[in-house]
Amino acid sequence: MFLIIIHLLFTLFTLTHSISDHPILIVVSFDAFRYDYFAKKVTPNLLRLRERGSYADYINNVFPTKTFTNHHTIATGLYAENHGVLGNSYYDKIKQISFKIGYELFHYDETIIPIWRLNEMSGHGRFSGSMMWPGAAFEYQGKLPTHLQKFDPEWNWYKRVDTVLSWIEDPTKPANLVMLYFEEPDTHGHAFGPKSKEVVEMLQRLDNVSYYLHEQLKRKGLTDKVNVIHLSDHGMTTVTPANFIDFTKYLKPNTYEIACTSPALHVIPKQGMEEEIYALLKNASQDLGHFTVYKKDAIPSRWRFKNNPRVPPIYVVADEGYAFQDMFESVKYFSGRYGFQVRNDSEFGIHGYDNQLPSMRPFFLAVGPQIKSNHKVAPFNTVDLFTLFCAILNIKSTRHDGIYSNIESVLVGYHASMLPIVVIIVGGVTLALLLIVCAAVATLLIIKRQQNITTAAALNKRFPQNFSHSTIEAQHLLEPEDA
Ligand SMILES: *[C@@H]1O[C@H](CO)[C@@H](O)[C@H](O)[C@H]1NC(C)=O
Ligand SMILES: *[C@@H]1O[C@H](CO)[C@@H](O)[C@H](O)[C@H]1NC(C)=O
Ligand SMILES: *[C@@H]1O[C@H](CO)[C@@H](O)[C@H](O)[C@H]1NC(C)=O
Ligand SMILES: [Zn+2]
Repeated sequence: MFLIIIHLLFTLFTLTHSISDHPILIVVSFDAFRYDYFAKKVTPNLLRLRERGSYADYINNVFPTKTFTNHHTIATGLYAENHGVLGNSYYDKIKQISFKIGYELFHYDETIIPIWRLNEMSGHGRFSGSMMWPGAAFEYQGKLPTHLQKFDPEWNWYKRVDTVLSWIEDPTKPANLVMLYFEEPDTHGHAFGPKSKEVVEMLQRLDNVSYYLHEQLKRKGLTDKVNVIHLSDHGMTTVTPANFIDFTKYLKPNTYEIACTSPALHVIPKQGMEEEIYALLKNASQDLGHFTVYKKDAIPSRWRFKNNPRVPPIYVVADEGYAFQDMFESVKYFSGRYGFQVRNDSEFGIHGYDNQLPSMRPFFLAVGPQIKSNHKVAPFNTVDLFTLFCAILNIKSTRHDGIYSNIESVLVGYHASMLPIVVIIVGGVTLALLLIVCAAVATLLIIKRQQNITTAAALNKRFPQNFSHSTIEAQHLLEPEDA
């Protein structure tokens, strides 16, 4: 009997201790899940999670509204100009080559510490995992996350969730932070456009796998231990081949390089060709319309993009719903992969435009022991997320561009600071009291004076002698003895 109890206690002990002692967080990203996809009413489970926890109607992501840029902003809390991932590729002027996804793209600045590294650096027994998170398969400060699965679209989504949970329950290195990535509804959104039935099907599948994740947490008794944030990197908008702009017709071949993809392209003129190519592109934009050409210095500052050595000499950005010549290749690829004929009015999806456009907005929701229930937070910025992760994980944040106060209200135990209100109330009451006292004193003095005058006058009238006599007597009392 005794042994059985000991055994049970031991089992209980190991069960409760097979997860991390540190706060636990899973960050789930659905690539290109536009903030208003909820209005399609095909994601009941995600909607329930929204109600159960905290959510924002949308978040303000960073420019360009591209995948690697925004995933790295989520991971670092930095704008593109500060983390250097200015798009899905960049052209290195010194090496004269274009870098696509790889170590270089994510290492403009070696001192930048993504959240999975910061977590592991912040103390004993903290372990991070990345399930396909863009940019997490490369070393930072010479280290990979403890648990790592590189991007592989062939991996079943349920297997991704099971693997993530196995990291959290790892007997020797239990993860307390996992970044979990899904490449949908981005892939089908690009191939069929955001209004397509294919996107609807992806949303339903994502809703189902979200349900599975939370059911598994419940089954394992982890609902009260694990915080889960669901979010996306950017939205998506429709584009048709009729709106593809070929500006290369205006340029001489072999006088420039192009990096990145529509709708924002880096143009790198050959030595000495900058002014000429700029003038030609200006003319192209006047003739063809629907796109803007910037010299490096003229790029809008509000994009927090241009103060970086990787910024190209010339940058072209299409208007919403338009794209450049590179899209002809992309749609050819999609038509081959999914077996359809491309027409001028075939709908495709695209993102990367100005981050002020509603169509580019991502979503945010969070549930868990440290997250408030039934709470809606005002739209905040993607750069703020890093501070939220740090607060949940209880680690000290490093350099970032976020504002913690934008987001702290989603945390349990947070109440809007009473101090300013207290100061206003106490100050106001004190001032009011002072005014009342002053007014009262003044009134009393006036009344007193008035009374003296009226009393003296009245007494004088009724008892003229007595009164003046007593006055004289009183005056006498006041006189010095020898007077
Ligand atoms: C999602 O799950 C529901 C309920 O289990 C199922 O009926 C539906 O077919 C699933 N949808 C997709 C797209 O997998
Ligand atoms: C641009 O267009 C203007 C007016 O049509 C023309 O004068 C100018 O030469 C053009 N510039 C270039 C570089 O072709
Ligand atoms: C598609 O658009 C291109 C360019 O605007 C045009 O040359 C072509 O004739 C159009 N094709 C059809 C089938 O409308
Ligand atoms: Zn994306």
